[in-house]
Amino acid sequence: MNILDFKARKRAGSPISMLTCYDYTFARLLNQSDVDVLLVGDSLAMVVHGHPSTVHADVPMMAMHTQAVRRGAPDKFIVADMPFLSARAGISTAMEATATLMRAGANAVKIEGERGQLDVMAHIVESGVPVMGHLGLTPQSVEALGGHRVQGRSEGAAVEMLASARRLEAAGCFSLVLECVPSALARTIAEALSIPVIGIGAGVDTDGQVLVLHDMLGMNETFKPRFLRHYATAHTLVREAANHFHVDVQERAFPAREESYA
Ligand code: KIV
Repeated sequence: MNILDFKARKRAGSPISMLTCYDYTFARLLNQSDVDVLLVGDSLAMVVHGHPSTVHADVPMMAMHTQAVRRGAPDKFIVADMPFLSARAGISTAMEATATLMRAGANAVKIEGERGQLDVMAHIVESGVPVMGHLGLTPQSVEALGGHRVQGRSEGAAVEMLASARRLEAAGCFSLVLECVPSALARTIAEALSIPVIGIGAGVDTDGQVLVLHDMLGMNETFKPRFLRHYATAHTLVREAANHFHVDVQERAFPAREESYA
């Protein structure tokens, strides 16, 4: 997948798959998969580092994970999230963050929101860096949104979101993530834009889907929002393997002779 394929895939009606990826080991596995795009999402602040929100991700953290993912997935198109406020502290701060993430191995950056930052986003695009937009539930604004909740339910909010999406396209974004919005609104936005709209909790009519890898693998059995499908039960796999190892150690069944040095 390269930047030119995004619009072509939309035109061809061929949905784009995107998964988050935060580390070298998973990147190696995903590099061998058919998944189109890897997202070094700032959700890593929660999933990997245990913070309560994505507000805790910063540029060095994002860059370190992007480097690890690039080492494991040399063949994939990698998008790195611009972390909390990094696109809002002026153009030079935004450009430094962009340069750091691109040098870390990203092919593009993703920026949440639209209002008050269109100029910065257009400047990044004009500088030769592809920018992915992100509307709907924008987790970096969790405090202002009053929690992780579906966005764009009222008519006014829906009209505003469509207008924002159009402005992002006009500013040069090559694609747009829509998170937790009613399916009908996501469909309207996808139909209105010529760039692909990649949904998470946005119904089936978008031009692609993205999920958090650890969530779709079922690493955490208690995290099951409506939009999430568990494609594996990794929580069972990991716990059972750990317990099996523990029992083998207790019973001196591990290591065997062939697993030991003469
Ligand atoms: O950080 C992230 O994982 C994301 C996805 C939910 C789209 O932005």
